[in-house]
Amino acid sequence: MSLFLWNHPVTAERYRLFTDRHDRYGAAARALVEAAAIGPGHRVLDVAAGIGCTALACLERLGEGDVLVAVEASGAMRQEGERRTRGRRIAWRSAPPEGQQFDRVICGAAIWALGPVSEVIGGMSNLVAPGGTLAVSLPAAYLGEADEPGGGTDPHLTALPAALAELDLGNPPGAEMAPLSDTSLAQAFRENGFSMARSDTRLRLTQQAYLDWMALPPVNDTLLGQVRPEDRPALLARIAEDLDMSSWRWETWALCAGTRLHDDRVQ
Ligand SMILES: C[S@@+](CC[C@H](N)C(=O)[O-])C[C@H]1O[C@@H](n2cnc3c(N)ncnc32)[C@H](O)[C@@H]1O
Repeated sequence: MSLFLWNHPVTAERYRLFTDRHDRYGAAARALVEAAAIGPGHRVLDVAAGIGCTALACLERLGEGDVLVAVEASGAMRQEGERRTRGRRIAWRSAPPEGQQFDRVICGAAIWALGPVSEVIGGMSNLVAPGGTLAVSLPAAYLGEADEPGGGTDPHLTALPAALAELDLGNPPGAEMAPLSDTSLAQAFRENGFSMARSDTRLRLTQQAYLDWMALPPVNDTLLGQVRPEDRPALLARIAEDLDMSSWRWETWALCAGTRLHDDRVQ
């Protein structure tokens, strides 16, 4: 996925609003930090840190003197993250610091957007110190796994994307994302010398959260690409009038964590 739309000021502002209103990224971040077994004294690198949801969850488990490095390539998201976490022990960077390795390298809610998974896992694995752990999170739906229905008259939350598709204001699909699966992810870990253990966490995704998430330009671009990003929220608000706002569905997040299979460097 291109970084262009993540670097749009509307995106950073909407992401912050989304995060203030809904615990989706916060809950997924806490589960990832748990799966990565982060604890006091760990040197932690948070890749594609966004506005700091995962980084803040890490700080809850780190020690008083520990400083986490948060890497975010989009200037708009990074500036919002710096503003939102001012005074916290987070060092923001646009790229990983050269020549450093970390006890924990984590990537929350971004792995599918960063490039071919084997290359991305390969790049991140080089940043893991001997004996360290690499951990990523992603919605299980991105691994081709269907979510269970929830409640209300729209228990799969399909009404919103269907209404947007009917408007026919999308752009032709761009470069297709390489299909991901549990197996391809485990293979990418293995090819780079890591074992992979998966655990899941399940959240309730409400219609309101889905609607607010759909207001993020990188998310709605496929369906609303012909509308200016700043005009899309008003259009979504009109569609919302016909949605059942009491509907919700389950959303499973996969948490994949691995340690090195063979590491000659471990003393
Ligand atoms: C859904 S956000 C997740 C942010 C954060 N990790 C969290 O848990 O809230 C995805 C992040 O990936 C970054 N991203 C998307 N595509 C990227 C790319 N091609 N290269 C680098 N970063 C990218 C975006 O800038 C954004 O901050």
